[in-house]
Amino acid sequence: MPASVSFEPLTLVDLIRYGASRFNAAGLSFGHSYDNALDEATQLVLHALHLPHDLSPVYGQGRVTTEEKDAVLALFQRRVDERIPAAYLTGEAWFAGLSFKSDARALVPRSPIAELIEAGFEPWLGGREVRRALDLCTGSGCIAIATGHYHPDWDVIGADINDAALSLAAENKERLLAGNVELRKSDLFQGLQGEVFDLIVTNPPYVTDDETDALPREYSFEPELGLRAGFDGLDLALKILRDAPQHLSEDGLLICEVGEAERALGELLPQLPLAWVEFKVGQMGIFVVERHDLVEHHDAIKRLADARA
Ligand SMILES: C[S@@+](CC[C@H](N)C(=O)[O-])C[C@H]1O[C@@H](n2cnc3c(N)ncnc32)[C@H](O)[C@@H]1O
Repeated sequence: MPASVSFEPLTLVDLIRYGASRFNAAGLSFGHSYDNALDEATQLVLHALHLPHDLSPVYGQGRVTTEEKDAVLALFQRRVDERIPAAYLTGEAWFAGLSFKSDARALVPRSPIAELIEAGFEPWLGGREVRRALDLCTGSGCIAIATGHYHPDWDVIGADINDAALSLAAENKERLLAGNVELRKSDLFQGLQGEVFDLIVTNPPYVTDDETDALPREYSFEPELGLRAGFDGLDLALKILRDAPQHLSEDGLLICEVGEAERALGELLPQLPLAWVEFKVGQMGIFVVERHDLVEHHDAIKRLADARA
């Protein structure tokens, strides 16, 4: 503890406003967790000042010390110069009301599936009994761990092909005391032979090759394995649709995110009844499908999936 501190004439709000102006002027991309400059600047200021993310606005008029100002400006500088996503700078991302460790081993948690988890997957589950759930392509473990957190009586498995992502997921499992979550290494369903789930949730890679090549610099810090998914973004989603029936219980449900590949999927399989989830901000490329519909349309799905590498 220093014997004395010198305060700047600046408040927290001044720093946040300054950061947001610099971020906008620099043309940063805000596709990771926060979608605007003010929220990102707020996140960085609170992190540098060791303050809680839900700090009461009354502290916004508090003045900062010279040391604190320097720490904030150094973070702003890295965000602008290096384009590192804010969550990787702070090492933390919030998802479904929980704080996850976030670093370059896995994508920054940001899926709208968080909203479904917090709603208990209703109305989609519609009273189905769930004992076992799978989060395929778990990355940081955010979907598996948040699902396990809100459903302590479910057994949840989080699976990913990437060892680095799984090591981050393991740290998050420990951080959030997720005793009912098990992590597995698996190439899609290959490491889950003979296993059956009442609910499969997945946010697989779904960015087209062209879009992946054109993404803003921020995305280059994330593992490409979590993004790239072929010419139309459906390489992995089609295989998941093909193989899910073997791993779903009789009236099981698959919930899958395909983002902007929604349109391509609708064109490839117009007859498959997919229910596109409406979020507070509209549709976000997430569908729900029942096992029996996947079985009924299996031949058409298999033809398309088998044609992918
Ligand atoms: C879009 S990220 C989603 C991560 C996490 N579920 C989330 O919502 O933040 C996709 C994940 O799929 C994993 N992945 C890519 N190909 C895979 C495969 N063949 N089998 C299993 N996981 C795979 C990547 O390692 C990455 O972690």
